[in-house]
Amino acid sequence: MIVDYFSFQQKEEISKQIKNISYTKIEKEMTLLIDFGKNNTNISTLSRIGNDIVDYFTFTQRLNTIGKYNINFYEFIINIDEFRKKKYIQNMLHYYETVKNKNKKKNYYTVLKEIYNISISSINIIRPLVYMEIYKKYSPKSILDFCAGWGGGAVAASALQIDSYIGIEINTNLQKPYEGLIDFLNKYSKTNINMIFKNALDIDYSTLYYDFVFTSPPYYFIQKYENNTEYTSKKEMNELFYIPLFTKTYQGLQPGGIYAINVCKEVVETVLINLFGKPIDVYSYKKSKRQNNYDELIYVWKKLDCNIYH
Ligand SMILES: C[S@@+](CC[C@H](N)C(=O)[O-])C[C@H]1O[C@@H](n2cnc3c(N)ncnc32)[C@H](O)[C@@H]1O
Repeated sequence: MIVDYFSFQQKEEISKQIKNISYTKIEKEMTLLIDFGKNNTNISTLSRIGNDIVDYFTFTQRLNTIGKYNINFYEFIINIDEFRKKKYIQNMLHYYETVKNKNKKKNYYTVLKEIYNISISSINIIRPLVYMEIYKKYSPKSILDFCAGWGGGAVAASALQIDSYIGIEINTNLQKPYEGLIDFLNKYSKTNINMIFKNALDIDYSTLYYDFVFTSPPYYFIQKYENNTEYTSKKEMNELFYIPLFTKTYQGLQPGGIYAINVCKEVVETVLINLFGKPIDVYSYKKSKRQNNYDELIYVWKKLDCNIYH
C-alpha cells in the first residue's frame, strides 16, 4: 500500500537536499533575466537561468505531483523497499551504487529523484526563458495564465516589466510559495501580479483585462497535480474542462489579442481546432539540454475583431 506521511517540514528538508538554492543565487539569476529582457546579454534558449527562482519557491510542492503508479516522489521514498522489488528499479539502484554514483557525490535523495525521473515521472517546468521568448515576441500589456503552475510565467513577466500578469491556479498549496515569489519579484519589477487561487472554470473573465493568453494546462491524465479535479475519461475532460475553459478564457480576451497554449497534440486536434480553427503559428521549444531531442509545441491563435467568440 502506498503511504505518504511526511510533514511539510520534512518534505522541505528533502527537497532542499536535492536542490539547495541560495537567495544570492536567485538574486543573480533575476538580474541576468532582466538584462536578457533588455537585450543586454545573450543567453542560449536552452539555458536554465531563472529555473532556480522557480525552484526556490515551488519545488517542494512540485514533488507532490503524482506520476505513474499513482505516486508522488515523497511516496516513492517512503515505499522504496516495495519499489526495490521491481527489477528495473533494483537495476537502477545497483547502477547508481556501482557506477554512476560510486564516489557518493550525490546524496540519497538526489539519487532517488533521478531514478524517479527516469522510471516514474519527471515533473517539468516551462522555463522562465521560454515564457520570456514568447512574451517578447508579442509585447503584451496584460497576460492571462489560467493554469499558472510553478511560477515561471510570473518571473518572466516581471523580468520584462510587463504591466500586468494574472495567474489562476487551482492548487491552493501554491498560495504561500507564490506570496514569497511575489515579494521577491516586487523588489525588481513594477509588474502587477494578480494571483487568483481558484478553479479557472469559476472565474468571470469579463471582469479581467488581458490582451494575451499563454498557459499550459494539464495533458489529460499524464500527471496529477495536487487539488485538481479528477475526470474519468478523456471525453469527460474535453466536455467539462477543456471546452468550457478555452471558450471562457478566449471570450474574455481583448479583440486583436493573442491566445497561445502549450498542450498535447490530441487536445489541439480534438478541442482547440474545433473551437478556434487552425492556429496561425506553432512554435517549438526544447524542454532542456538533457532532453534536447524532444520538443514541446506552443499553438497560437489571434482573436480577430469579427471573431464569433468576441
Ligand atoms: C502543466 S501544469 C502548468 C505548469 C506550468 N506551465 C509551469 O511550467 O509552471 C498545469 C497546472 O494547471 C493547474 N490546474 C489544473 N486544473 C486547473 C483549474 N481548473 N483551474 C486552475 N488551474 C488548474 C494545475 O494545478 C497545474 O499547476
